[in-house]
Amino acid sequence: MSASYQRMIFVCLNDRGEGHPKGSCSRDGGAELLDRLRADLHERDLKRVVRAVGTRCLGQCSHGPVALVQPEDVWYGGVQESDVSDLIDGHVLGGRVVERLEIDPDKLSGVPQEEHPLPPLDRP
Ligand code: FES
Repeated sequence: MSASYQRMIFVCLNDRGEGHPKGSCSRDGGAELLDRLRADLHERDLKRVVRAVGTRCLGQCSHGPVALVQPEDVWYGGVQESDVSDLIDGHVLGGRVVERLEIDPDKLSGVPQEEHPLPPLDRP
């Protein structure tokens, strides 16, 4: 039985400085989002089950503030601290994608997996 976290929520805290054309998730509410997420997970006694961590740029800058939930690989964009209850109630506890916050998979930056598939992990 694994004792690892069941879900990881990565929140972009990248800060490019005032007025940068690419934007900065941190300046757009990412920092407050992470603080609220951590506080709510703690209040709901989920801190040891779900880990919320701040990261540098997650490569989806035009959708910020961005949060990525793994292992489901769901990307959320435009997420504010007021959305935390919906994320926890819906995704974490409800097992449902919060559709109003999900970034359209067709609009994500990166190469479609079908175009450049990597081998699955072969763990002995
Ligand atoms: S600045 Fe947040 S995803 Fe790039």
